[in-house]
Amino acid sequence: MDRIIIRGGQRLVGSVRISGAKNAALTLLPCALLTDGMLTLSNLPRLADVDSFGHLLNGLGVSTTVAGARTGDGNDRAMTLHAGEIASTVAPYDIVRRMRASILVLGPLLARAGEATVSLPGGCAIGNRPIDLHLKALEALGAEIELAAGYLKAKAPSGGLKGGHVSFPIVSVGATENVLMAAVLANGETVIDNAAREPEIADLCRCLVAMGAEIEGIGSSRLVVKGKTSLHGADYRVMPDRIEAGSYACAAGITGGDLLLEGACADDMVAILDGLTAAGLTVTHESEGIRVTAEGRPRGLSLSTAPFPAFPTDMQAQFMAMLALGEGTSTLTETIFENRYMHVPELARMGADIDVQGRTAIVRGVDKLVGAPVMATDLRASMSLVLAGLAAEGQTEVLRVYHLDRGYERLEEKLSAVGADIERDSDG
Ligand code: UD1
Repeated sequence: MDRIIIRGGQRLVGSVRISGAKNAALTLLPCALLTDGMLTLSNLPRLADVDSFGHLLNGLGVSTTVAGARTGDGNDRAMTLHAGEIASTVAPYDIVRRMRASILVLGPLLARAGEATVSLPGGCAIGNRPIDLHLKALEALGAEIELAAGYLKAKAPSGGLKGGHVSFPIVSVGATENVLMAAVLANGETVIDNAAREPEIADLCRCLVAMGAEIEGIGSSRLVVKGKTSLHGADYRVMPDRIEAGSYACAAGITGGDLLLEGACADDMVAILDGLTAAGLTVTHESEGIRVTAEGRPRGLSLSTAPFPAFPTDMQAQFMAMLALGEGTSTLTETIFENRYMHVPELARMGADIDVQGRTAIVRGVDKLVGAPVMATDLRASMSLVLAGLAAEGQTEVLRVYHLDRGYERLEEKLSAVGADIERDSDG
């Protein structure tokens, strides 16, 4: 299995091109199921999860063609998806258990084919992740859903899904995405209250509108969808990845570096940029992107994760690594997932001083971290170990690289280009 080897202590300086957003790509890909026209998604990141989603869609009868030769910045990749006919409405366990985002085919399949059989995703490394809100929202549109042998069997009423009123008791990104993709082809109007406002939801809405959908309130917590009998194909460019950009910002922070995050969108990253500023980093807005400059060690701070526009759960682990080398004590509170601190014992093995009390982690900044073999059980946790390795004394080996490959495009290349001593060992 591959491992990533980092010899820490280099100050990172230069420019990093930010890729298309993984979390947007994984909700834009299933939009292909909503039309018999061609959907072309450009700025699609080269990630294992994107490939897996493509395979899932192939199994449902969607043809996928990838265009765009690999170039220096690698950001010219486009995929054309064509679901002329839905050949299967089954998302099998083997794919869903490896990629939770597979659940996002449920809404589109129900809307277009009137039925869907999707494996229950099961538990995952960052905790119990229920899907009850997805199901209740689709039931509000008339779907009948039952559970049999680990699979959800969903059926639309004869005549198709009907517009309805969905009011989420808590904000859910995935459930908002699923019901939106169902509502665009339902008969009549759907109102979604307490919708997630994450920028990836707005990106999904804009793509659906480009396909002929009618959606009001984009970017707000009340979405009103007027269902259409059909949608058409479109060309759509995936938004930049705010979490990748934030992760590289932390790389500047932890190495005392100076990085230009090319193509990053500041409006999508306000809470992240506020966090960087609170840590004493300088954030400047330039025409090509966002520059993050660090001088000396980051300052301690308090952060709490919450739905957008607050600080994202997907940045908690990376900030923790940076603050482990901070001056003073930081307090990080995780409100989205109950079990998202698996990186803490690994950071501790590198010398970090972190105490977890329930949902809160107290991070007492230390003067130095020391390289070690480490591994993490999820994507963002793995990135926090890479960040720690960049600043640690000596050599860090990050195992289970497949987590990183799910969400960071060309990680070693991007980091080496700005001065990191990092390589992938494919025999490890
Ligand atoms: C979540 C994050 C998203 C992040 C992604 C991957 C939020 C609001 N969502 O999205 O930013 O990119 O993980 O790390 O920050 N829940 C239920 N029932 C459901 C669905 C969710 O109780 O049917 C709960 C979850 O357990 C969680 C909260 O709602 O506590 C938000 O989950 P949700 O937004 O749905 O998760 P993801 O879509 O995976």
